[in-house]
Amino acid sequence: MFLKNLFRKKPKATPCKFINNCFGSYEVIEPWEVTEIKEVPSYITKPSYSKSLRPRDGPKKPEIKDKNQIQSMRDSCNFAKQILTHIKKYIKPGVTTDELDSIVHEMIINNGAYPSPLNYKGFPKSICTSINNVACHGIPDKRPLINGDILNIDVTVYLHGYHGDCSEMFEVEKCDNEAKQLINITKLCLKSAIDICKPNENLSSIGNIIEETASRNGYSIIPVFTGHGIGTYFHGPPDIFHFANDFPGKMLPGMTFTIEPILSQGSYEIKILEDGWTAVTVDNARTAQCEHTILITDTGCDVLTR
Ligand code: MF3
Ligand code: CO
Ligand code: CO
Repeated sequence: MFLKNLFRKKPKATPCKFINNCFGSYEVIEPWEVTEIKEVPSYITKPSYSKSLRPRDGPKKPEIKDKNQIQSMRDSCNFAKQILTHIKKYIKPGVTTDELDSIVHEMIINNGAYPSPLNYKGFPKSICTSINNVACHGIPDKRPLINGDILNIDVTVYLHGYHGDCSEMFEVEKCDNEAKQLINITKLCLKSAIDICKPNENLSSIGNIIEETASRNGYSIIPVFTGHGIGTYFHGPPDIFHFANDFPGKMLPGMTFTIEPILSQGSYEIKILEDGWTAVTVDNARTAQCEHTILITDTGCDVLTR
């Protein structure tokens, strides 16, 4: 995957196809050329996979974090959120996702942190940028944003040995009402799930409320992408399913995990493109995703990436 990305040359002579159907009017995304992999200065503390591309295993079961670990999570999560806030002002027609990636990459390194996606299982960039029909794991490339695009930017940072992970939806200039509604309901799904998080609650309640909220509004949940425990490891237990389920597991004080539902206007089926990463809907429906890292406290939960 790594080598393939290095030597990949796939400039698009003609732009992707623009469609106007029951999902709205928007461009169906195809990957463009990806620029070279960036270096991270030697003095930055790097996660285990930055050279090997293979993450070390996380804990076997959900970790209960102590005071110091929780403070480290707060710091990395605050920083991830700050980046998401900062990048917003650069999002406009003509700007490429590669340029957004460069801005974020610099900002992370200038603050002594490492961009967690870079080299994670061979991912070649520092953020994920997923536009329109791309469900997640879009690779920043040379495609300029156009008026009407909706895009998810997913930022994860590795600061002082801990990962903080969050993502948000952005509109490029002005998107259609179908897209606005999709984004609003996606935010509502995440909010409804966060609202029920507390000690001794079933982890399955998250998926149950998210799927109920989505389907009530005519959207489907893309089931194959889950939230995850997070800490010194990028992805670990517990798995957080976003669809209705009755799997075992309870929330306990000191757990930190992400909730990151992806809603589709159409089918929940996705396929992964040749680059090994970009997940697109099979019916070209648009999707929206948003993500927070949360901490279960003694009385409820704290949104660490707020
Ligand atoms: N940030 C994503 C998540 O929410 C994971 C991206 S993995 C990458 O879990 F390799 F694609 F960056
Ligand atoms: Co993320
Ligand atoms: Co995540």
